[in-house]
Amino acid sequence: MRVLLTGGAGFIGSHTALCLLEAGHEIVALDNLSNSSPEALKRVEELTGKKATLVVGDCTVEADVENAFAAFGPFDAVVHFAGFKAVGESVSMPLEYYRNNLDATLVLCKVMEKHGCRSLVFSSSATVYGTNPVMPLREDYPTGCTNPYGWTKWINERILTDYCFASKDMSVVLLRYFNPIGAHESGRIGEDPSGVPNNLMPYICQVASGKLEKLRVFGDDYDTPDGTGVRDFIHVCDLAYGHLKALEYAVSHKGCEVVNLGTGEGYSVLQLLHAFEKVNNMTIPYVVTPRRPGDIATCYADPTKAHTLLGWQASHTLEDMCRDAWNWQKHNPNGYQGDEIK
Ligand code: NAD
Ligand code: UFG
Repeated sequence: MRVLLTGGAGFIGSHTALCLLEAGHEIVALDNLSNSSPEALKRVEELTGKKATLVVGDCTVEADVENAFAAFGPFDAVVHFAGFKAVGESVSMPLEYYRNNLDATLVLCKVMEKHGCRSLVFSSSATVYGTNPVMPLREDYPTGCTNPYGWTKWINERILTDYCFASKDMSVVLLRYFNPIGAHESGRIGEDPSGVPNNLMPYICQVASGKLEKLRVFGDDYDTPDGTGVRDFIHVCDLAYGHLKALEYAVSHKGCEVVNLGTGEGYSVLQLLHAFEKVNNMTIPYVVTPRRPGDIATCYADPTKAHTLLGWQASHTLEDMCRDAWNWQKHNPNGYQGDEIK
């Protein structure tokens, strides 16, 4: 297959690029580098010995998407990762989030149609389950969101479902990711957040490296076994492999499917922290603070559909995730910004 990866230079996109290249497929990434570095795809090339073409362009700009298709197509399928993803930022900048995350999809679908590309895999999120209290979360459960970022995912799901219904030759897989963490085991590619990380694992890694003083555990009074939030942490390489399986499905079926990508296991913030300490033989200082507004107590997937429909299941353990996340951080204390320690 020849696959276009929008947002392909980002955290999940670069790991998926590597996974697809290793499986013998060709990839082209279209990314405006608003939250990523070209270095990620250079390292993918170095790891695979294969070409990972980067086209710098914006998915909300039709001419940029058209150029990618005209110059580097035809594509058998597209994986659409491109989008803004910071929940807190989306609350203060809703218009930017709606514009970027929705325009990108609308423009992409238009250009795909023009070029006869009929298979799309979309990056959705467990955030569309909102505050649904019934666990594990199944794809047919009610949805609803608590912030603009979540609504952009929810509306994108709606747009793509309706588009698929109207275009009988179209195939879409909406992947609802749970909490991707970790990095490729080589330590050459990983998550490179700008500024102070919002998410738990990058924050722990920066405390471990001495960049940040201590972890703030947001609340220990939830109705969970140890009082801290419970999440379905999934290794980014398992997630990347899920895209390969979703693409194989999409190019051989028509219609729209929504699929959870999670492990099905929930671990608490403190369980993750202690697993990290044990695997990497270190102590991470932390302090318990009040709950973070908007957080829910527990969120984990029922991953049955991914197994039955796509033949996919996660294989990495929590320990693998903690080891690989730290391996990436310690070798790349400034992410892709140089100063690499070999
Ligand atoms: P990321 O920020 O590392 O990757 C997104 C990429 O898209 C970046 O390289 C950015 O430069 C690019 N981009 C943004 N807007 C663009 C535009 N208009 N045109 C071209 N490129 C653009 O994020 P990620 O963690 O790799 O996430 C990938 C996708 O998965 C996103 O859509 C995100 O919302 C979704 N997702 C992520 C998580 C998570 O926890 N990481 C969870 C659920 C869903
Ligand atoms: N947490 C802390 N301290 C921190 C950061 C997080 O205690 O410094 C806690 C949170 O309160 C939560 C858990 O760690 O209980 C996980 O928080 P993250 O910020 O890492 O992840 P979320 O579950 O809040 O959200 C993530 C992505 C969303 C995505 C969602 C589901 O940020 O974009 O997973 O896929 F929608």
